[in-house]
Amino acid sequence: MRILFVGDVFGESGRRCVEALVPKLRADRAIDFVVVNGENAARGLGIYEKQAKSLLSPGVADAITLGNHSFRQKEIFPLLDDIKVPIVRPANLHKRSPGRGLCFVEATDAATGTTVEVAVLNLMGSISLDVGESAFEMVDAVVDKALARTPILLVDMHAEATSEKVAMGIHLAGRATAVVGTHTHVQTSDARVLKGGTGYITDLGMSGPHGDSVIGVRSDIILKRFLTGIGERFVPGTEGVQLEGAIVDLDAATGRATGIEAIRIPFSG
Ligand SMILES: [Fe+2]
Ligand SMILES: [Fe+2]
Repeated sequence: MRILFVGDVFGESGRRCVEALVPKLRADRAIDFVVVNGENAARGLGIYEKQAKSLLSPGVADAITLGNHSFRQKEIFPLLDDIKVPIVRPANLHKRSPGRGLCFVEATDAATGTTVEVAVLNLMGSISLDVGESAFEMVDAVVDKALARTPILLVDMHAEATSEKVAMGIHLAGRATAVVGTHTHVQTSDARVLKGGTGYITDLGMSGPHGDSVIGVRSDIILKRFLTGIGERFVPGTEGVQLEGAIVDLDAATGRATGIEAIRIPFSG
């Protein structure tokens, strides 16, 4: 079975890129399941309902994960609370906040023709980000809950610090099918399979404008802020749009990863 993880979708150009390239990737690379981090779809800050529904169209994303911008757009709250919709926000946010951090989605392993259940778990790091509790404090219970239903467990660890992401990868090695990092918008070159068969990469990168932006936001706005201290409303860049992420191969019967490959694909549309 083969799974594609897509790094943080930034703005409308990122969303268009993902919706154009993922169906092609599914066909060309025989991908069975797709997880997209959508925390920056709404001009960099959260995700609009319309965008989430569009990303969840048949042939694009099977599940959406989020991050520190989960609650920026309040219109998304009903969708986060709808248990039929496969969209998750970090599981270790405040307990009274909207949504959930773990969801289960049915998928077909095309190689064997079998139907499997995939658990998708979103976590968030504590270093420079505001969480309800440490991901390390609560993750074991939620992993047990997921593995009681299916051996296929996909984890998006949304965090600023490399150390927290590496540590979570090692903590879940042999239990999760994959632990992929998101949030920094810069893809790391450390994709590998950890002991016990857990695909790992510290950061998937960003699916959005790389040519004229500082991690998504138009570079003139960010430079003005650094040079003068004067902040302006964020506007997404538009140039050099590419999809970034990783493809994980796994044994669907055991949930063990057998390979992981980072990908970066330019989008000319
Ligand atoms: Fe992000
Ligand atoms: Fe983030």
